[in-house]
Amino acid sequence: MPALPTSPLLAALSGHQNRIPPIWMMRQAGRYLPEYRAIRQRVASFLDLCFDPELATEVTLQPIRRFNFDAAILFSDILVVPHALGQNVTFSAGEGPRLAPVMEPNAISRLARRIDRNALAPVFETIRRVRAALAPEVALLGFCGAPWTVATYMVAGRGTPDQAPARVLAYRDPEAFAALIDILVEASSDYLVEQFRAGVDAVQIFDTWAGVLGGEQFDRWCIGPTQRIVASVRKQVPDAKIIGFPRGAGASLLRYVVEVPVDAVGLDWMIDRTFASREIQSQRPVQGNLDPLVLLAGGAALDRAVDEVLGAFANGPFIFNLGHGILPETPIGQVEQMLARVRRECA
Ligand code: CP3
Repeated sequence: MPALPTSPLLAALSGHQNRIPPIWMMRQAGRYLPEYRAIRQRVASFLDLCFDPELATEVTLQPIRRFNFDAAILFSDILVVPHALGQNVTFSAGEGPRLAPVMEPNAISRLARRIDRNALAPVFETIRRVRAALAPEVALLGFCGAPWTVATYMVAGRGTPDQAPARVLAYRDPEAFAALIDILVEASSDYLVEQFRAGVDAVQIFDTWAGVLGGEQFDRWCIGPTQRIVASVRKQVPDAKIIGFPRGAGASLLRYVVEVPVDAVGLDWMIDRTFASREIQSQRPVQGNLDPLVLLAGGAALDRAVDEVLGAFANGPFIFNLGHGILPETPIGQVEQMLARVRRECA
């Protein structure tokens, strides 16, 4: 039998059931931390922070120093991929991302076929610096957005409540939309391979908007492209550890785990826990599930929710996390409360 990895998170990804589940939080480096806000003030734009290896290394490490999480997640954004494909991407304060919308076949054909690795070189430098600074038992996670989720921003040019522009394009002109998805499959695969070469231990594929896709659309735009990325990355990095997170998938998560050979799946907070433990965790390690809003609410409700999550997933490999990113308004004391409960309850 291969030796168990020294990192509890990597052990969980290999199917090991830890006595205390490893824990990290989506968006753990971010605005709820005063030390993040202090660094953020030093740069004009969010992308400047993502592309400054010194500052990006610092903000990646901040939540590890403060909370001793079992994993650091590279500080960057899913939208650096469209940037590296030549689409103009900006983040204006308080308004979220803005991109030059790619709504018709001509705009899609003007995108680069491959990512500009020079544009992403600072990200790979950040990975090297963070890995060198971390203790060996702390895993370093890289990531990318899944093609569907990244395409929703590329098509609309911004975040949208229901991802309507991408859904309409996918119905109206599936060939053009497939061409965009194909570019993203290749770009994301290359990007993840380079992240592994720079030193990440595992990666997560964020499909934040998978939940708006109905059955057949889910198979075509979520399952298919993610399958292709996993296959392509493993061809170049055979033992690549990959976490898939198709948020909002509901019962379609079963097809996702059957068809996509990821090492673990992220669970949002909406999923039925009995279903997730019986049908999903029985096949694959799972991660997540605590509602970011109960973390924000705090108090006895938070303790109860932590216990429910721990109880539901106590019978298999599990990584404690939220069901989506931590909200900027979340009091730090409540993150401490959650951590103490996860670590003490299982002790
Ligand atoms: O998790 C981490 O700590 C690592 C860094 C990370 C960020 N974004 C930093 C960020 C990661 C993994 C992401 C992923 C990401 N980015 C996703 C997928 C996961 C999810 O949350 O759904 C998506 C959809 C994006 C796109 C994006 N980036 C949006 C819509 C926004 C604006 C909304 C917001 O929260 O401000 C961002 C900006 C962003 N990405 C911030 C951070 C810390 C805030 C910008 C700032 O600090 O000025």
